[in-house]
Amino acid sequence: MRELKSITKDDLNQEVTFIALLIDVKIKSTKTGGKYADLTVQDAGSKQLLKLWDVAEEDWLQRPKDDFPVIEVNALVGEYQGKLQLTAKNIRQVDKDSIDMKKLVPSSKWNFDQMRQWLEEFRDRIQTDPIKSLINEMVFQEPYYEKFCTYPAAKSVHHNFRHGILQHTLEVLKYCVVVATTKRLNQRQVDRLIAMAFLHDWAKIIEYEPLPSNKISDEGKMLGHIFIGSHHVMNKIELLEGFDREDALIILNGILGHHGALEWGSPVLPKSVEAQILHQADKLSGDVESILSFMQEQEESRETFTDRLWNMGTDYYKGGIS
Ligand SMILES: [Fe+2]
Ligand SMILES: [Fe+2]
Repeated sequence: MRELKSITKDDLNQEVTFIALLIDVKIKSTKTGGKYADLTVQDAGSKQLLKLWDVAEEDWLQRPKDDFPVIEVNALVGEYQGKLQLTAKNIRQVDKDSIDMKKLVPSSKWNFDQMRQWLEEFRDRIQTDPIKSLINEMVFQEPYYEKFCTYPAAKSVHHNFRHGILQHTLEVLKYCVVVATTKRLNQRQVDRLIAMAFLHDWAKIIEYEPLPSNKISDEGKMLGHIFIGSHHVMNKIELLEGFDREDALIILNGILGHHGALEWGSPVLPKSVEAQILHQADKLSGDVESILSFMQEQEESRETFTDRLWNMGTDYYKGGIS
C-alpha cells in the first residue's frame, strides 16, 4: 500500500495501490458524448487527482455530497502536461471501521502533547482570576476541550487540518506575547490579550463540522464564528462572579474586531491596543501558514514560482523550499 506523496515520476507507467478518502467527484463529458470523472483523493500526506474513464460502472460515485468514502485504488501512473496523473484501473470501497482515519486526514506537524502543554502554560500566565476562570471554562472543559484540540481552523487557505485551531491559537498566543513583552504592556493588558487570543476563533468548533467533512455547519453559515464566539463569551462572563466590566468590553471587542476591518467580516474595529495586536497576530499566523502550505502543495511542479495565491494576491518564489 502506497502513501500518495510517495508516488512520483519514478513510478511512471507502473501500477500503484493505495487507500484514500474520496473527497471530490466531478463527472465530465468527452467530445464524443461519453462520460468520465475527475476524482480528488487524499490521505494524511497529500491530495491527488485521479482519472476514472468508466464512470457508468461506478454508480456509488453518485453519493451524497457530505459522504466521504474510503477507497482502495489500483491506478496507473502517467504524466499529463508535465504533471503526474493517475488513472484508476480498479476502485473498491473499504469499510471505514477497518481504517485508522488519522492516516487519511492531514494533521498538524506539531507534537500534540507539546501543544497541549503550551496551551496550559499560556493560561497560567493569566493573573486576573475571573479572566483565568473564563478561559478554563471555555477552553479547558468538555464538551469544548476535545473539539478545540482537534478541529481544523479553516476550510481552506490556512490551518485546514486536524489540530488546526489548536496550532493557530498557539501561534497567535506566541506572537501576541512577543509584542506584549517587547512593548512592555502591563499585566492586566497581557491578561486581556491572552484571553482574547484564546477565544478569538473558539467558535470555529461550532462553525465547522469535524474532519474529514470540514463543512461549514448551519450555525456557521447563518451566524459565523465572530458572532457565535462573542455571544458564548458574553453569556459565560455574565455567570462569572466579579468579572470586571472593562475587561469584558475589551475582550469582547477583541473577539469582534479580530478580522480587523468591516469588509473582512468584523462588525466593529479593534478599539484597544490589545485588540489591534490580536488582529495583527491573527493575520500574521494565517498569512504565513497559507504561503508555506501553498508552496508545499506546489513543490512538485518545476516552476520557480508558485501559481498566484489568491488570498495574498501574488505568486511566491520557491527557491528556499527544500
Ligand atoms: Fe477568525
Ligand atoms: Fe484566527
